[in-house]
Amino acid sequence: MESINQFVSFVREQYHTDKFVPLHEPRFRGNEKEYLLDTIDSTFVSSVGAYVDRFEREMEHFTGAGKTVAVVNGTASLQVALRLIGVAKGDEVITQALSFIATANAIAYNGATPVFLDVDLDTMGLSPRAVRRFLENYAELREDGCYNKFTGNKISACVPMHTFGFPVHLDELMTICSAWKIPVVEDAAESLGSYYKGKHTGTLGQVGCFSFNGNKTITCGGGGAIVSNDLELGTRAKYLTTTAKRPHPYEFFHDEIGYNYRMPNLNAALACAQMEMLESFLADKRKLAGGYTEFFKSIGVNFRTEINETKANYWLMCVELGDRSERDSFLKETNEKGIMTRPIWTLTYRLPMYQHCHRDEQINAEFLEQRIVNIPSSVR
Ligand SMILES: Cc1ncc(COP(=O)(O)O)c(C=O)c1O
Repeated sequence: MESINQFVSFVREQYHTDKFVPLHEPRFRGNEKEYLLDTIDSTFVSSVGAYVDRFEREMEHFTGAGKTVAVVNGTASLQVALRLIGVAKGDEVITQALSFIATANAIAYNGATPVFLDVDLDTMGLSPRAVRRFLENYAELREDGCYNKFTGNKISACVPMHTFGFPVHLDELMTICSAWKIPVVEDAAESLGSYYKGKHTGTLGQVGCFSFNGNKTITCGGGGAIVSNDLELGTRAKYLTTTAKRPHPYEFFHDEIGYNYRMPNLNAALACAQMEMLESFLADKRKLAGGYTEFFKSIGVNFRTEINETKANYWLMCVELGDRSERDSFLKETNEKGIMTRPIWTLTYRLPMYQHCHRDEQINAEFLEQRIVNIPSSVR
């Protein structure tokens, strides 16, 4: 109780407020209004416009990815990324159950079934050891890829997710997946500004996916991005997300079932303005994380920090509490006192539509599900 009061005071000091403190709210302190008005004045508010192209080039510059395609949201970016690398109806896709629902939904939108494997305790993301174990027990390599030898289904992708901006063990994961000929789509929705061994998350797998939802490090209202170093895949991503229309000055001819998923210029204007603020946002979050580290050390609580050879963006910061009942009283008391805190997601395989999916023992995921709580993480 006493330590919860100390936490409440600490958060109030950080945000200089005695009002409600949300988990993560956007900050619009740059050119947002100017660029939005510019878009309206230009009349190019929809899916064609200078800000969309500019935002894509800025994402390429920031992440180092060869090609970026801006889309309507992160979920759509995952859906298309999976189709791009060949996920088809009836396939199986390896992922983690400890994630936001969009990861599994994007797999299901492609008619595929998620296979839920455990996470690592240190990263809270997909465990390379769990993936190796599953593949050694269940998979066989055929000429055209990897198959589940018990179900006969193709295992056509692996989707690790960088939980709260903490990168997964990518080298180990990429090595295993490439040995089994399984393409990797990084769900980097939460990890803009997070690096693994100096490389931006989302750029190590065949395709990476980002979200610019209102609660993310930068936002454009709703938005997402598909990034890839494979320029052919990148070009196809643009094609599929703009209705698969063959280029022609005035005729309409579509040769595949594509999507109307291109990010509107209005949103991209906001995205460009937010991009200008990204470095300062990341710096402030890192400073806040430093403050939390000291504070939680002083009260004996485990505040999660980045691990060796990674740099986290500290998108949503979190603590690991002792057990479920400690977690529940922390959540209750902090929320009652006007400091928003939230438990990590319910594991996806507990949800009605994914209960039938194959999963391993989930020892780490269940441990974290009982203990991890997000705490206020907005830029100050
Ligand atoms: C891990 C993860 N994947 C995917 C998404 C989907 O992004 P969006 O909300 O932009 O569709 C989100 C966030 O919202 C997310 O946290």
